[in-house]
This record gives sequence, structure tokens and C-alpha cells, in this order.
Amino acid sequence: MDHPVVTPIRETLNSDIGRQFDAVAGETDIPSGVASTEFRLEGITDEWLDQLAEGLTESGWVSLNVSDHLGDDLLVALRDEVRILDVTDAMKKAGIGRGADLTQDRSVRRDRIAWLQGITPPQRELFRCLERIREGLNRRLFLGLKRYEAHYATYQSGDFYRKHLDSFAGRASRVVSLVLYFNEDWQPADGGELQVFNRDNQDEVCGLILPEMGRIVLFLSEEIPHEVLPANRARYSLACWFRQDEVPLPL
Ligand code: OGA
Ligand code: MN
Repeated sequence: MDHPVVTPIRETLNSDIGRQFDAVAGETDIPSGVASTEFRLEGITDEWLDQLAEGLTESGWVSLNVSDHLGDDLLVALRDEVRILDVTDAMKKAGIGRGADLTQDRSVRRDRIAWLQGITPPQRELFRCLERIREGLNRRLFLGLKRYEAHYATYQSGDFYRKHLDSFAGRASRVVSLVLYFNEDWQPADGGELQVFNRDNQDEVCGLILPEMGRIVLFLSEEIPHEVLPANRARYSLACWFRQDEVPLPL
């Protein structure tokens, strides 16, 4: 996987933030101090995994607040990482498609992204949570999810992502999508909601999700059309896809 280009801008940051930034971008070892941070994982319970699996089965999507399951410390640590990437201008323009088919169409999506390497302590902890979710869904729904990929995304004021599916039927690639939001005090006037469409009637909006701190949405990548409405302030999130294929495609 690639990672954000490290720009000279980081030299203007104080050294702590600079070192932390290097680690977030996968450039260096974890700075000491950050490495000793402990996060908890006991919140990912069987009952919670049952709830996720039931939502996917019944309507193809589910949205919940995960503060109690991931823990506020982990959410804040991840939010701080994406904020550092944002303010240092390290996020890259998101494209559509992959490899040679990758195009950047600003009429479709305007967010910026940075792929997670799983190296920093909060990312390592998040990956352990994602692994638990992957196994939990496989055990309940027999999806054969083999791996996952995740990126941070930032939307600036005015940015959006038009209605789309995350995967096309039959490719067995992205099967389950998970989006986690990091925005404190998000108000309806801030826009940027995720609109979720009905899998049986794709013109009908059946969910409107505020990208507020600690909220996740989980949905079937091939079945649920969704759209990010224009945001009126900076909007931070993390998107993850659980995949059935084993070999990563070139990004
Ligand atoms: C995506 C996406 C939704 C969101 O990145 O594919 O649909 O709410 N994100 O950020
Ligand atoms: Mn999407």
C-alpha cells in the first residue's frame, strides 16, 4: 500500500508532532511515549457482534455508536492522527477505481484519503478490533471475509461523494464496508450526512447518518447505494472494507 507523501511542511511542526506524524505516515518507528499507550478491546462483545450481523442480514446496513465498544481513548487517538494528516496537508486526493483505471473526477468525489499502515499504537489497536469484527461476521454470516483495508478520509467544506456502491456484484472483492466518524458536536446544519438508500428500492433514502464522533455505519458493499452530502465544515472519518479476495490489488 502507498502512504501519504511526507511534505517539508512537517519541519515547521514541533518535534513531538513531527515524530508522531512520521509514524502515522509509516515513515519511522513509533515515538516512545505514544508506544506505551494502552487501549482496551473487551468492548467487542458477542452481543455487539450479533447486533452488527443482524443489521446486515435484515436491511443490509446498520449504524451504531461505538464509544462504549472501542473506547473514547482510541477514538480520540485516531481522530488526532487524521487531524495531523489533515493539517500537514498529507492527505491525497481520492480517486475512483484502482490501478490503471484510477481516475480523479471532482464531480463524483472530493475527499482526500490516507491509507492506514497499522503501525502506530492506535492503528494497531483498531486493526485488532477490525480483526475481531471480521471473524465475528464470518462466524455468524459465513461471508468468508479474508482481510480488510482502511483509509482515513477528510472532507473540507463543500466536499461530497455522490451516490455510489463500494463494489460491483460478483467481484468478491469489497463485501462489507465500515465507516467510523470522528467529529465532535456535529450539527444537522453542518451537512455532510451519509445518505443510505434502500437495497430493494434504490431511489428511496432509508437512513441519514450524522458523522458524529464514535458513530459507525456498516453495510453490504455490493448492495447499499450511499452518498455523502456536501459538508459545511471539515469532516473526518475512517473507511474500511472487508474483502473476500486474498491478494491486494495495486492501489
Ligand atoms: C466511501 C464512502 C462514506 C462516508 O469512502 O466510499 O462512501 O460517510 N464514505 O464517509
Ligand atoms: Mn462508499
